[in-house]
Amino acid sequence: MLRTPVCELLGIELPVVCAPFGPWNEVPLAVAVCEAGGLGSLGTAARDLARLRDEWAEMRRLTSRPFAVNHTTRPLDEDAFQATIEDRPRVISFHLAVPRDLISRAHDAGILWIQQVMDARQAAEALDAGADVLIAQGGEAGGHGGEVSTLVLVPQVVDMAGDTPVLAAGGIADGRGLAAALVLGAQGVSMGTRFLASQEMPASDEWKERIVAADAVDAVKVAGSERILPPYSRPGSFGVPRALRTPFVDTLREKPEDIDPGEAGPRLMRAIHAGRGDEFMPFAGQSAALVHDIRPAGEIVRGVVREAEAVLAGQHR
Ligand SMILES: Cc1cc2nc3c(=O)[nH]c(=O)nc-3n(C[C@H](O)[C@H](O)[C@H](O)COP(=O)(O)O)c2cc1C
Repeated sequence: MLRTPVCELLGIELPVVCAPFGPWNEVPLAVAVCEAGGLGSLGTAARDLARLRDEWAEMRRLTSRPFAVNHTTRPLDEDAFQATIEDRPRVISFHLAVPRDLISRAHDAGILWIQQVMDARQAAEALDAGADVLIAQGGEAGGHGGEVSTLVLVPQVVDMAGDTPVLAAGGIADGRGLAAALVLGAQGVSMGTRFLASQEMPASDEWKERIVAADAVDAVKVAGSERILPPYSRPGSFGVPRALRTPFVDTLREKPEDIDPGEAGPRLMRAIHAGRGDEFMPFAGQSAALVHDIRPAGEIVRGVVREAEAVLAGQHR
């Protein structure tokens, strides 16, 4: 099946990454993706160290394949980062800013670094700081992202990256997206929304069903969300989340002053800690429009690759 050089580097069989989902447990999904030959990821937001260590141990119990542990600057948890270094996953992935010092610490521990970037300036910073793989994340993406579209950002970053592999993210949910990413010079894809609507993802059925039912215009940038989300902890951080519309999202976008941060912030965090939060802000990308079913993650990995191969061979419309 389709392999690119980044597969060798990351120790995976197929060039498909399942995105990290910040504060939501996704161990069963990551296991399924790894076992299907892709790279599973684990987010680290909003949990204490004991819970993170349990998730990493569970992951290693269920798969011997490589996986990524993700950190962001919203905010960076230094203790969790140091514990990650000590746990030595094959890969650390990072989003929202480029932390040169943390990249050095990962490399000193023999851990690969995947840096997600949202524009060309950030890509230049990441290349200069020695990132091993870049994810060029277009503004279509679910969760936090920038404004530049995937179709513009991927070739722009590929042109800058030289021998450093680039993966494409944002708006990709099927084999046509993977094929397009390869044609643009990427070596593979990272998908979030598609994998969120998988059988193994321990998210609420309502969230998954809303993704299946959504059109692209239902996944909106949540301007005003900085009122209730934790602040960034490092300079140079940016990103505005994209989520499906809810009354809460609409109020944040249109009348943010109606939301009381002192009440709404803790309410959202309490829901997130209980594995929910989607009733307020169901993160999802425009690619929700391309997701028509809730499928096993392994089938998603293999199906996307098979379809891309057929597209590239001219056997698919
Ligand atoms: C629910 C959700 C949570 C996310 N959390 C993170 C995160 O914690 N760290 C990160 O690097 N990216 C995160 N992302 C962004 C993904 O890495 C990825 O760029 C995005 O999902 C790609 O766009 P797509 O959703 O159209 O596939 C998240 C995305 C979603 C949908």
